[in-house]
Amino acid sequence: PLVLHVLGARPNFVKAAPVVHALAELGVRQAIVHTGQHYDALMSDVFFADLNLPEPIANLGVGSGTHARQTAALLVGLEDVLQEHAPALVVVYGDVNSTLAAALVCAKLHIPFAHVEAGLRSFDREMPEEVNRVVTDALADLLFCTSPDALSHLANEGVDPAKVHFVGNPMIDSLFAALPKLDPEPIKRRLGVDGRYAVATLHRPANVDDPEAARELVSAVLGVAEHVRVIVPLHPRGRTRLAEAGLVDRENLKIIEPLGYVDFLSLVRGAALVVTDSGGVQEETTMLGIPCLTVRPNTERPITVTHGTNRLVTPASLPAAAAKALADGAATPAGELPPLWDGKAGPRIARVIAAWLRGDNLSP
Ligand code: UD1
Ligand code: UDP
Repeated sequence: PLVLHVLGARPNFVKAAPVVHALAELGVRQAIVHTGQHYDALMSDVFFADLNLPEPIANLGVGSGTHARQTAALLVGLEDVLQEHAPALVVVYGDVNSTLAAALVCAKLHIPFAHVEAGLRSFDREMPEEVNRVVTDALADLLFCTSPDALSHLANEGVDPAKVHFVGNPMIDSLFAALPKLDPEPIKRRLGVDGRYAVATLHRPANVDDPEAARELVSAVLGVAEHVRVIVPLHPRGRTRLAEAGLVDRENLKIIEPLGYVDFLSLVRGAALVVTDSGGVQEETTMLGIPCLTVRPNTERPITVTHGTNRLVTPASLPAAAAKALADGAATPAGELPPLWDGKAGPRIARVIAAWLRGDNLSP
């Protein structure tokens, strides 16, 4: 039996790597299909290299577009490739459009699929990712959860608990695996950065697509730059809009290309503060103990607030929150670290998948 991983966007690669490596350990036959949702070398190739992922057997080259156009291209491409390879199980990750499309195609072709990072909810349907999460989870045959809150959300939505497995967080597995390579010095030298600095990543549509929201956000980031030097590895999505809103190189602000996985986390590891609207970065900073200010009205990862270093801020409150975080120094996590974020989620997922392929009864 073949297990096919459908991957498309930067965070997918990070979440899939530990699962792919653990399935390989168990000798499970598997392959990766890349949808091509992300295609720049710094959004895709560098992750395959840094995470030691095998070459995809196909790249569907769907590229960018409106939600309808991108999803339509994904549906057509995935239907062909899934029919051609007839996998016993498909594995999808996270909440991007590639995840949603693969879920729909599997459901229509009656191919069972597993969802890694199931059950996260922001309860904000204006987020495209929230729609993707809800639909994917409603259709999934196996659901792997990274936090206890996800289990309750799935139970509330009537998902059969026999399909649901609490396994920990594969994004954190990747972080643990990379840890020995995370040295801030080489990337700081390359960027010409010394002393104290903050790292900012911004790409949520609600922050960067609307010119007014972008202006508010940029003035907040400039407010942070009054307290500390800010380095912004900028996602392609925000590039034009944020530059128009004034996010350009200045005395205390450095805008750079997106960084590869090891470079990015190395830079974060040496930072005094992180400002973000990313999902994954909220989790990684929690594990690294770096104070994180998330510029969003909500988070589908509340465990990073209750158990970690994350705090939600508005653009208006960001500069003062940054000043305070810098004054407080290294963040001590609020309590214990999230349960099962121990670097072993990949092997747990692989064991469940292997048992499922054997036809074992998986009811808890
Ligand atoms: C997608 C995900 C988002 C995730 C993010 C991770 C959806 C709906 N959104 O957002 O959940 O947080 O990936 O990074 O799936 N672009 C490039 N080069 C690339 C890829 C994109 O220039 O390699 C530009 C294009 O102008 C494109 C825009 O970025 O129009 C948005 O890309 P898209 O894949 O649609 O969504 P993201 O904003 O990347
Ligand atoms: N990341 C990276 N380089 C960057 C910014 C982020 O390698 O310049 C990594 C980050 O460490 C995390 C993942 O990309 O592992 C998160 O992806 P992103 O923020 O694009 O998506 P989200 O998590 O918001 O869906």
